[in-house]
Amino acid sequence: MKIAIVLGTRPEIIKMSPIIHECERLSLNYFILHTGQHYSYYMDKVFFDRLQLPDPKYNLGIGSGTHAEETSKALVGIEKTLLKEKPSVVLVEGDTNTVLAGAIAAAKLDVRVGHVEAGLRSYDRKMPEEINRVLTDHVSDYLFAPTKRAKENLLREGIEAKKIQVTGNTIVDSLAQNASLIDNNTNAFGLEDKGYFLLTLHRQENVDDGKKLEGILKGLQLIHEKFGLPVVYPIHPRTAKRMNEFNLAPSKGLRLVDPVDYLTFLGLESKAKLILTDSGGVQEEACILKVPCVTIRNNTERPETLDVGANILAGTEPKEMLSKVEYMFFATTKWKNPFGDGTAAKQIISILSKNLISS
Ligand code: UD1
Ligand code: UDP
Repeated sequence: MKIAIVLGTRPEIIKMSPIIHECERLSLNYFILHTGQHYSYYMDKVFFDRLQLPDPKYNLGIGSGTHAEETSKALVGIEKTLLKEKPSVVLVEGDTNTVLAGAIAAAKLDVRVGHVEAGLRSYDRKMPEEINRVLTDHVSDYLFAPTKRAKENLLREGIEAKKIQVTGNTIVDSLAQNASLIDNNTNAFGLEDKGYFLLTLHRQENVDDGKKLEGILKGLQLIHEKFGLPVVYPIHPRTAKRMNEFNLAPSKGLRLVDPVDYLTFLGLESKAKLILTDSGGVQEEACILKVPCVTIRNNTERPETLDVGANILAGTEPKEMLSKVEYMFFATTKWKNPFGDGTAAKQIISILSKNLISS
């Protein structure tokens, strides 16, 4: 068995890390192919360093571009590498352009595809990620669904039950593996425990629309004015670029910092009073860390977080954002983590080993 682990962005590095550690632990024959979709030190290399991951064997250096540019460059580079390496399976994780390219390149070469975090659906085709997820799931041979609900989504689309395994989400493994290493020094940012809101914001549909982004900034100001707490925002490079283009200044109370490494970010999340986000992984982490979450979107592909009462959808209207924060500010945080028991990576590797070694 030879495994190709294809990744390209911050969340893929974090969520693939438990699988990479498991491959190392078992001395499996595997290699990492990085597309280079994310490349700035603080979006890429910092995670390899802090998570103690081996360097990728290949880095395609595709960089940023339109969806077609990113996907096509990755597709060509991945195909060449797969022809050379001839792996028995390609693993992809999540819903980025890298994931779609990895899945299509492998499927057309008749190399098996394993999709980690399969079956998530926002049912919003305006999100590029939704298109990537659906297409990837439909060319995958092994679908590792994080929850039963994700499995049901796949069954409804006609995907055969025998291809689907519910394993939990590798984000739980990753959190558990790093729990003792979390950097709790929020004082380094001049913050008091539970004395600030933490924000992440980078969805294309939120930040590429100047009016919408302006409205979100207004909402953040209302929230700051109501509670008198700073809103700390390790700003994603996409949003930094857009604020600059649209000539938008940070709203009152918004404290911009550069994106931080994973262990620092987990510290910021754990000590926040409440998290505001449009990120996928951050909705999950807030739920697992038992910090109330307000999602700046009208839908989510992580409805499990809503079901357990850890998260609420606020949309992007300023007053609605404020009212949802008012509601979640006083939430009791006794919910159960719906994303598994932290053994997803072990299960995934074990399933692949059984299937591929016997075939
Ligand atoms: C991508 C994923 C998104 C994921 C996010 C994680 C797609 C369609 N989108 O969005 O699903 O949630 O990554 O963060 O795959 N940039 C840098 N340095 C970098 C990377 C990006 O400066 O290392 C800037 C560039 O200006 C670039 C912009 O960010 O144009 C957007 O990058 P891109 O990878 O296209 O999309 P993300 O918004 O990061
Ligand atoms: N994250 C981080 N540093 C930051 C912001 C986020 O390490 O400054 C981590 C966070 O803990 C989570 C992941 O990045 O695991 C989420 O990535 P992102 O929001 O970029 O993508 P998404 O999950 O929306 O695809």
